[in-house]
Amino acid sequence: MYSRQKLYEGKAKIIYATDEPGVLLAYFKDDATAFNAQKRGEIVDKGRINCEISTHLFRLLEAKGIATHWIDSPGERQMRVRAVEITPLEVVVRNMAAGSLCRQTGLALGTPLKPPLVEFYFKNDALGDPLLTRDRLLIMGLATEEQLSQLIRLAKEINVILSGFFQQCGITLVDFKVEFGLDAQQHLLLADEISPDTCRLWNQSEADINRRILDKDRFRQDLGNVEQAYQQVLARILTHISQP
Ligand code: TMP
Repeated sequence: MYSRQKLYEGKAKIIYATDEPGVLLAYFKDDATAFNAQKRGEIVDKGRINCEISTHLFRLLEAKGIATHWIDSPGERQMRVRAVEITPLEVVVRNMAAGSLCRQTGLALGTPLKPPLVEFYFKNDALGDPLLTRDRLLIMGLATEEQLSQLIRLAKEINVILSGFFQQCGITLVDFKVEFGLDAQQHLLLADEISPDTCRLWNQSEADINRRILDKDRFRQDLGNVEQAYQQVLARILTHISQP
């Protein structure tokens, strides 16, 4: 069915062309990287799990009116997506302080952020994905004022939907990263993936600050049980998602 011409290989996914115009096939890999690929490894079955988790979350967001690149998921590790030109911005939404925010500001881990903090990072490995200011972003032409407002509004809407859903699953959505792209009609679509690779997820039934982690921080910090954490996130989603 698919011509299978490889268009792009990233750290976690391969993008293939398909016979359908405007449609691409994303293949989710088990490869894991951290710290701008200075740390490399494999998380067994991650590709299958992240594809499934992303599928459920994209479907949930679509049902709530968020336009995404997701079309369907025809097989294990495979997602049919609308072709978009990815905006080279990593949009991070934080409900609590963690990760680079703690390192760069001294804020204590878990400090609640109300309203949530929306940040933009320049998606550029050579430069180490630097944090951008609003003015830098505008000067660099990465978005117009109007697009920036739209991105912030969308990121906050996505946060409300995902936080509410994960809350039902007994999981706290601490922070997450999303990417957007423009399709051929210049529609802004949520793209890439949403998974334990791109979110911080804390198990609400665990008080221990290491045991509660259900996301890629287990890999980044060598905490062990990485596969089990990803499996647990999927299992909880499957228990709480309403099937179409
Ligand atoms: P940070 O605290 O390291 O800046 O990460 C914020 C969020 O973004 C966290 O949920 C992990 C996610 N993230 C990615 O998806 N890709 C990345 O390359 C990085 C650095 C973070």
